[in-house]
Amino acid sequence: MTDSKYNMKYFPVFLNLAGRSCLVVGGGSMALNKTRLLLKAGAVVHVFASEIDPEFYQELTARDGSSADDPEKNLLIIIEARFEPEKISQFDLIVAASGDPELDLQVAQAANRAGRPVNVVDRTDLCTFIMPAIIHRGDVIVGISTSGASPVLARNIRAQIESILPARLEVLGAFARSFRQAVKATFAWDDRKRFWERFFDGPIASDVLAGREAQAREKMVSLINRTDPHPARQGLVHIVGAGPGDPDLLTLRAVQVMRDADVVLYDKLIGPRILDYVRRDAKRIYVGKTRAHHSRTQSEINALLVHHAKAGRRVVRLKGGDPFVFGRGGEELEAVRSQGIEVEVVPGVTAATGCAAAAQIPLTHRDHANAVTFVTGHGLEGEPDLDWEALARRGQTLVIYMGASNAGLIAQKLIAHGLDGETPMAIIENGTLPEQKTVTGPLVALYDLMHDNAIAGPAMLVIGDVAALGAQQAGQFHGSQRRIA
Ligand SMILES: C[S@@+](CC[C@H](N)C(=O)[O-])C[C@H]1O[C@@H](n2cnc3c(N)ncnc32)[C@H](O)[C@@H]1O
Repeated sequence: MTDSKYNMKYFPVFLNLAGRSCLVVGGGSMALNKTRLLLKAGAVVHVFASEIDPEFYQELTARDGSSADDPEKNLLIIIEARFEPEKISQFDLIVAASGDPELDLQVAQAANRAGRPVNVVDRTDLCTFIMPAIIHRGDVIVGISTSGASPVLARNIRAQIESILPARLEVLGAFARSFRQAVKATFAWDDRKRFWERFFDGPIASDVLAGREAQAREKMVSLINRTDPHPARQGLVHIVGAGPGDPDLLTLRAVQVMRDADVVLYDKLIGPRILDYVRRDAKRIYVGKTRAHHSRTQSEINALLVHHAKAGRRVVRLKGGDPFVFGRGGEELEAVRSQGIEVEVVPGVTAATGCAAAAQIPLTHRDHANAVTFVTGHGLEGEPDLDWEALARRGQTLVIYMGASNAGLIAQKLIAHGLDGETPMAIIENGTLPEQKTVTGPLVALYDLMHDNAIAGPAMLVIGDVAALGAQQAGQFHGSQRRIA
């Protein structure tokens, strides 16, 4: 085949180097990196150098030799003036990392003559093998190579992959390994494959990743003992907080479950840049509500969650902010749980903290506020039914969700219950998004500022002395007296 897209420049393999003799030539930081890696793989490493970096020497010899598998036992440092090419055939794998072009060339040539694999740092032309960027989580090892084109690109790719891998992947690998024999003894090859596919896709693996290992072990034992090669695939629901809008504020866990989902039910405040993280072929169902118009009732949404999970699907219920902060996540949780369906809740950055951060307003502050209260500005009948007296106390911060349509009334009530009309206040519309608008002023002007600035998008009201801090930084705060509607 001549078309280069069919030609891999390098063939990826994983070598078992346990107990194998490897040679690292060089005594500097490059040689140290390679030595560390080879020791991790259990190789017996011979380091040859005419002189050795004291840090290198210290790091590798400072290891405590008490444990049986301590890498120190696998390390031999030879400090000699002259490299002896004829000795190279003693080694199974060679790394030239001296940084001296002549010496590295000599090592590569000697290795080639002896038919030994050789890697020369920064000289792919002299390498018979190259080393990938590595992600190492227990039994799981991911190697990333750009065939030597750009190690920095390989590291970038590694960082991206790392960000989507679950933190407890190592535990999941060990868990699967511990059941490997039992599964092998129970199922024939084809069924075994299917069993593992379902395992990694299903609630037991989710339990392991969520740290519920004992529970997962129990379920695994009963699943194996059932010896049913085709167990009905069990669905599960993730109730996920997607944060206030900026996709960079998604949690790693949110991204992981979105990537795995079969079905995603999402709200109005979930933008397309967040939906980009959902698996491409997942079914997307818009269930957004607006104050005036409910496209789906809450019980219809609950029924959809149950329906898809019962059909064996991985369902993600994607909600703005945090699902448990004015998000009706509790009702959905109950609906799903009452049907015996596995459910996991993934928290999100709630709009209060997201908006405050985006407007650089600290919600508590030693000098200004020793408490913060989150309330909804929208009651069941429209008007909020709140403890105005408690909310009007000084020395605290009040953060009001869904308060835009009742802004005038809110200001009026707070002032009527004793809060100074000059108390600083901030309106943050579309917080964390590129179109974010932040308007600040005294509480007494809340109604006018809402209207003058045509606040129409989702908005957060922050009331309290701290509201002046972010604005002061930006030099915007003005304390003009305005009328309350
Ligand atoms: C139904 S509540 C959902 C709150 C969500 N569960 C949370 O934790 O942020 C919707 C209200 O949150 C606020 N909100 C949500 N996202 C916002 C944003 N990006 N900027 C400003 N306010 C936002 C608005 O007050 C909006 O009316």
